[in-house]
Formats: sequence, structure tokens, C-alpha cells
Amino acid sequence: MNWEEKNVLVTGGNGFLGSRLIEMLKPYSPKSIFSPSSNEFDLRSKENCEHVTKNIDIVFHLAAHVGGIGLNKEKPGELFYDNILMGTYLLDEARKNGVEKFVTLGTMCSYPRNTSQPIREEYLWDGYPEPVTASYGLAKKMQIVQSLAYKEQYDFNSITVFVTNLYGSYDHFDLNSGHVIPSIISKIAKAKKLGYNFVELWGDGTPSRDFLYCDDASQGLILAAEKYDNTEPLNLGSGEETSIKNLVEIIMKLMNVNLEIRWNTNMPNGQPRRCVSFEKALQEIGFKPKTSLEEGLKKTIEWFKFSQK
Ligand SMILES: NC(=O)c1ccc[n+]([C@@H]2O[C@H](COP(=O)([O-])OP(=O)(O)OC[C@H]3O[C@@H](n4cnc5c(N)ncnc54)[C@H](OP(=O)(O)O)[C@@H]3O)[C@@H](O)[C@H]2O)c1
Repeated sequence: MNWEEKNVLVTGGNGFLGSRLIEMLKPYSPKSIFSPSSNEFDLRSKENCEHVTKNIDIVFHLAAHVGGIGLNKEKPGELFYDNILMGTYLLDEARKNGVEKFVTLGTMCSYPRNTSQPIREEYLWDGYPEPVTASYGLAKKMQIVQSLAYKEQYDFNSITVFVTNLYGSYDHFDLNSGHVIPSIISKIAKAKKLGYNFVELWGDGTPSRDFLYCDDASQGLILAAEKYDNTEPLNLGSGEETSIKNLVEIIMKLMNVNLEIRWNTNMPNGQPRRCVSFEKALQEIGFKPKTSLEEGLKKTIEWFKFSQK
């Protein structure tokens, strides 16, 4: 792809992943990168979606109402409504405005709750997702149906890239609505600051997750935009499965603390297991993550400490 000729829209470009994606797109020198904030253009509005996709060649649709289990538990209705509207309107207006390629960010929360591991793209329709995150996961999953339908009827080129749990600098270190890694780092830092000898964490520590560093995910999205033209989704993950208990131990070691872990089993665990096969992405676009979990966590903790100063 000749990026120098492309006007690129990155929705959600002020967010955690979007800000990294924009940084990583810059060396390719696109003709322009447009990344409006939700204050400028709320994408739950059809008119705003029409406006932002004018004269655009490539869309990376990252804008979403998204967060950890806390947010999913508290606001399943908003997560469904906001995400399905944004995706549906934006894809439709992009098509009408003649966008060349549309890349949607999918979530592993769209996959069935109980599925074989590592999770492969062909398992996507085998069952209902984890109930706690189902409204978010299913709202985003409908974009695949729209993508297929638009390919059939209008020959519109849109793809869906599923990314596993992301982490890295610029993440949201919010104690209640943040994702798993930033929430754990924040809770440990808070316990340390208050002089506690324990930290209370949600769930029972048994679920496993596959964690992908934000720069690796951004590189995968750029490769997918360049090389992948199929409505069948593509997974991006690390292919490594880490239990939450093990993750906490690694984080504590890197933060140089040794606290007793008190599991709050009144809070949900979420999906029991998650390990993502990126075999198809390796074959189709040459995607291979570069950052090990320990290396990525070190960078994330350094950034967290810096951001707290
Ligand atoms: N983080 C993960 O672990 C993970 C895992 C799988 C998939 N994903 C997907 O990756 C994408 C990016 O996630 P993230 O973690 O970077 O999220 P994030 O930091 O919360 O960023 C989300 C962005 O969406 C924008 N947005 C929200 N509501 C909007 C609205 N109504 N109109 C316009 N823009 C709106 C926000 O814009 P403002 O800042 O301007 O308000 C924000 O920049 C999402 O599609 C998410 O589903 C993330």
C-alpha cells in the first residue's frame, strides 16, 4: 500500500491503542491522519459518521465504549447501544463515501465463553459469549455480519481484526473501570502507598488471559490494513496463556513488593480461559509479536510510575 497517497481516519485516536497506532503510522507518512475526539464528533450520530468519513481512503475504527469487567458489569446497556451504533453508522457512511478499506477492531469478548484453546477464528460462532461481557462482545460481533453483507451487496472492502487483552503505556489506570493489567498495577501501588501488607483483587485468580503489548497490536493492524482483504476475521494475540494469579506474581516482582493476595470472589472472573492462536495472522500478513510479557510489563509499570508524578 502506498500510504503517502492515503487519507487515514483513526476513530478513537485519543484512546490508549489509538494514540499508539497513530504514532506507529507516522513513519509510513500517510497523506493525512484525521482522529477526531468524541467531543468534536460523537460517532453515535449518523451525521457525524458521514462527516468524518468524507475524503477518507482508509478507516481504522477503534472508537468504542470499552473497559474492564467493572464497567461491563455496571453498564451493559450503554456498552451495547454505544458500540453497535458507532460501528453500524460508521461502516455504512464509509461505504457511501467511497472509503477504500475499513478496518474494525474486534474483541475476544465476542468468542464463546467455553471454547477450545488456543482460540482460532473458526470457533467464533460456536456458542454464547461470557455473559458479563456479552453485550459489548455481541455489539462488536455484529460488525462482522455487516461487513459480510456489505461485501456481498456492495463489494465493500472491510475487515475485522480481533485483538486479545492489550496493555502498555497510555492505558487507563482506573481502579474500577480499567482493564486487568492497569487495574492490578494501580491496586498494588495503592496498597503499597497505604502501607498494607495485602492487596484485594477481583475474582479468584484462576482465569487465564493472553496479553498483547500495544505496539505489537498496532503493527498487526497496519499489516492487516496493507495485506488482508477478507471478511473472515483475523486474530492478533501473543499465543501465550497466563493465569491472573501468575500475572499478579510477575507484576509484584517487577514492582518490588510482596503482598498477600486476598481474592474477592464476590466479583466475577469473566471468561475462564483465553489463549489466542495468531497462526492465521502469521500466514496471511506475517504478524508476529515482538514484546515478551515481562518486557512489556516493565515498560507499562515505568510509564505508570511516571504518570503518577
Ligand atoms: N484495550 C484492550 O484490551 C482491547 C482489547 C480488545 C479490543 N479492544 C478494542 O480496541 C479499541 C480501542 O480500545 P482502547 O483500549 O484504546 O479504548 P480507549 O482508550 O477507551 O479509547 C476508546 C476511544 O473511543 C472513543 N470514543 C468512545 N466513545 C465515542 C463516541 N461516542 N464517539 C466518538 N469516539 C468515541 C474515545 O474518544 P475520546 O477520548 O475522544 O472520548 C476514545 O479515544 C476498541 O475498539 C476496543 O474495543 C481493546
